[in-house]
Amino acid sequence: MVLLREKMEEIEHTFEKKDIKIGIIGAGYVGLVTSVGLAYKGFKVLAFEKNVEKLNLLKKGISPFYEPDLQKFLINSINSGRLSFIDEVSQLIKECKHIYICVGTPIKEDQTYDMFFLDSAAREIANHLPQNEQKIIIIKSTVPPGTAKWFKKIIYRYRRNKKTNIEVASIPEFLREGNAIYDFFNPNRIIIGVDNKSIVEDLTQIYHDFPAPIIIVSTTEAELIKLASNAFLATKISFINSISDICEQLDCDIENVRNGIGLDNRIGIDFLKPGIGFGGSCLPKDLNAIISIFKEKQIDPVLFEAVKKINNDRINLIMNKIKKALWNIKGKTITIWGISFKAGTDDIRESPVLKLIPILIKEGANLILYDPKATNNFKNQYPQYSINPSIKITENIYESVVNSNIVVITNDWEEYKRVNLQKIYELMETPIIIDGRNILNHLEISEYGFEYYRIGVNYESS
Ligand code: UGA
Repeated sequence: MVLLREKMEEIEHTFEKKDIKIGIIGAGYVGLVTSVGLAYKGFKVLAFEKNVEKLNLLKKGISPFYEPDLQKFLINSINSGRLSFIDEVSQLIKECKHIYICVGTPIKEDQTYDMFFLDSAAREIANHLPQNEQKIIIIKSTVPPGTAKWFKKIIYRYRRNKKTNIEVASIPEFLREGNAIYDFFNPNRIIIGVDNKSIVEDLTQIYHDFPAPIIIVSTTEAELIKLASNAFLATKISFINSISDICEQLDCDIENVRNGIGLDNRIGIDFLKPGIGFGGSCLPKDLNAIISIFKEKQIDPVLFEAVKKINNDRINLIMNKIKKALWNIKGKTITIWGISFKAGTDDIRESPVLKLIPILIKEGANLILYDPKATNNFKNQYPQYSINPSIKITENIYESVVNSNIVVITNDWEEYKRVNLQKIYELMETPIIIDGRNILNHLEISEYGFEYYRIGVNYESS
């Protein structure tokens, strides 16, 4: 972490002003991080956000969501005069040669991407495009392969006979929530997808000083690289979760096994953490999308279907552990540490705990929920739970365990590791912990006298 901090300080002090004005359409997760990142890189950035409430916050320098370091970077970018937020997309289209598309691509009921916001952006661009000026559109949203080509076609279609000079590129984003600012400045690779090589030089001007190799591919290849990367990460997680299931039956400890596997350079230890399943706004969505794309092209998506099934089954695993530990759930007080889908974010989209809560309520448990950052999002998005007498939401980790029968850990905040275990032990009615992310030190926990269960270990044989 210290290293990361030092790097961030370095970035802050080494930017040089650049003579390019960049437009960003959509100041959501990717759009906002890209906006402040490019402003820090010295570009002049104009960002457009349609949601008035969000836009007003952004104009005041307030990030609408929690992301480490983002707040500071946002204020500094605005104060330096290199980042401004606007409510007129026409101004952005007129003034900027480079226009990034960072609008959302939610998934529809049929598990395919909803292209409405991209379609709207293409039409807006077509309507406001000045004649005789070249514009380069860069798609950052996660999209199905073929989108950049469609985007260009739509613009030309709506232009009708007017003179038009645009190119569309696809430069996918690989940043992780919770590490987004660091990832923006330190990507592993920069994928530039173009169908017309004449814009490569122009685009590399933006990316030449990032410490990463630049790979030039076609737009469709770039789009597939993004989807396939997320599908691979999902596969890695379901793989290790499967291995952890067999560890529980074979009297092996998954932590030893995963170290042994991950030390092979060809495999790598990253994304080999077993748990209660992957969530978030990307991995589950992109996995569904890749399954739909395979089906549409009549290729059997058997691998990805299995990855999805394994992930969905994780909730049963954790439920069985809770049942085994408590014997009877009805009337018990269950503390859940973790509402966001992982540490470092207040994002609760597709968080595995959202599946667990209704099952436990149905079983007759009383729940106490705690998360360092996500309680507000949870209250706002699930108001029915705020008024449910069986659910209490706390802002303090110690308060969350008072008279509790069991703590179930569902995400991986550092705070859980630093907690005063003696105090937790004393406050609980029956000191039991189920560690759904294997983040606590099991030797230390046992010394305090907790009954402790984690993933990928067989407790019956020990
Ligand atoms: C993911 C990708 O990691 C990013 O590269 C990509 O840019 C992003 O999606 C996106 O498409 O926008 P993110 O959704 O922020 O990033 O979260 P991850 O760090 O990938 O974690 C996803 C889920 O997998 C979390 O629930 C996490 O707890 C879980 N996970 C992760 C595991 O269960 N085990 C692991 O070893 C790693």
